[in-house]
Amino acid sequence: MNQFHIEGPNRVTGTIEAGGAKNATLPAMAASLLTDEPLELRRVPRVRDIRTMARLLTHLGVDNEADDEVVRLCPTGAEDLDDAPYELVKEMRASVLVLGPLLARRGRARVSLPGGCAIGVRPIDQHLAGLEALGAEVALEHGYVTAQARQLTGARYRFGMPTVGGTENLIMAATLARGTTRLENCAREPEIVDLAELLNAMGARIKGAGQETVEIEGVETLSGTAHTIIPDRIEAGTYLVAAAMTSGDVTVAGSRAADLAPLLEKLAEAGCRFEQLEDGIHLSRDGELRARDIVTAPHPGFPTDLQAQYMALMTQAEGVSTICETVFENRFQHVPELGRMGAKIEIDGSYARVYGPSPLSGAKVMATDLRASACLVLAGLAADGQTVVDRIYHLDRGYERMEQKLTTLGARVERV
Ligand code: EPZ
Repeated sequence: MNQFHIEGPNRVTGTIEAGGAKNATLPAMAASLLTDEPLELRRVPRVRDIRTMARLLTHLGVDNEADDEVVRLCPTGAEDLDDAPYELVKEMRASVLVLGPLLARRGRARVSLPGGCAIGVRPIDQHLAGLEALGAEVALEHGYVTAQARQLTGARYRFGMPTVGGTENLIMAATLARGTTRLENCAREPEIVDLAELLNAMGARIKGAGQETVEIEGVETLSGTAHTIIPDRIEAGTYLVAAAMTSGDVTVAGSRAADLAPLLEKLAEAGCRFEQLEDGIHLSRDGELRARDIVTAPHPGFPTDLQAQYMALMTQAEGVSTICETVFENRFQHVPELGRMGAKIEIDGSYARVYGPSPLSGAKVMATDLRASACLVLAGLAADGQTVVDRIYHLDRGYERMEQKLTTLGARVERV
């Protein structure tokens, strides 16, 4: 099993290129099920979740090939395939994003229920209730969701909470529904805006993506197109936190400050300096790091996907910071591992209190999920001595060649 060996402490400096957003690419790939024409996606990150989605699409009759950062998806016309099996869905929950497109275009879908995962229960009740509002018959049997509808019909649906995947599934389903759909209390993440731009380029009529209310006027067919995925804000944020943590100086070329505003504001309050360049974000720190509280929330709040990395940073800040996780119920699994490296953190329900600064010392630690793994790598950069991060297959789900990017920035990180 692959590990990262990190020799610390490191100060990271230099420039790296932002990769494409994993969480924008996954729904964009699922959108290939909505058309019988080829779709070309550019700036696709070469990470494991993308390969899992590619396997699922092959299984559903969409041929696909990757050439560097370009993925070409060609539907084969095998319209009778409608089954997303447990073996693929259990590997990646985002597999559930094929539900809306399959139903909209093929009239039925059979998708394994994802079940819980390391960071929380993560039900899909909102996806299902929304599809029912569009006229689908939905049943749960033998661990699978089966949904069918000869023709989805536009409707009004209000999400019980902003859900990223739910909003994406419903927008995709509604593109081919008869009439107009009005979705309220939608998630507003930049990845949703990117998906709507892709779908509109395919001929959909979507207004309001990125706002609470999204309106979709159904069309008869969608065509193929070429689309460039937005830069990955979470990946960029992770490297900026690495700079903040190690008194470094890093530019992430191609990243967009607007997508990262909640993180950048906190880093500025904590004592870092950042600037939006014409094409990228530059961040440096030369003074003391101050403790600052965060509360995670749906966009435009502080992203839960950067909570673990920010916590690693706060272990080095002067004072006590409180980190409140409101999106997922079990996303503090990095805390005991940080503790093994010398961090002083107390958990009280959805709150974590970080007492800083604590000198970190290298240790053997175990990654439990994607962002928790990134947090441990950051801690390893600041720690004294060798840190071994085990189970980095979690990291490979969403970070492309992280060891290479960190090495470019002067860190001593080796994949073993
Ligand atoms: C997306 O997951 C991201 N994944 C996650 O990225 C991210 O953490 C999350 O959004 C929040 O920003 C992708 O985009 C592929 P949600 P998603 O539906 O869509 C509850 C990463 O590290 N909920 O917005 O699954 C749910 O349990 C990850 O890259 C329901 O109760 O998240 C959670 O508490 C992991 N019922 C909250 O809503 C539903 O039907 C937000 O979940 C749907 C969601």
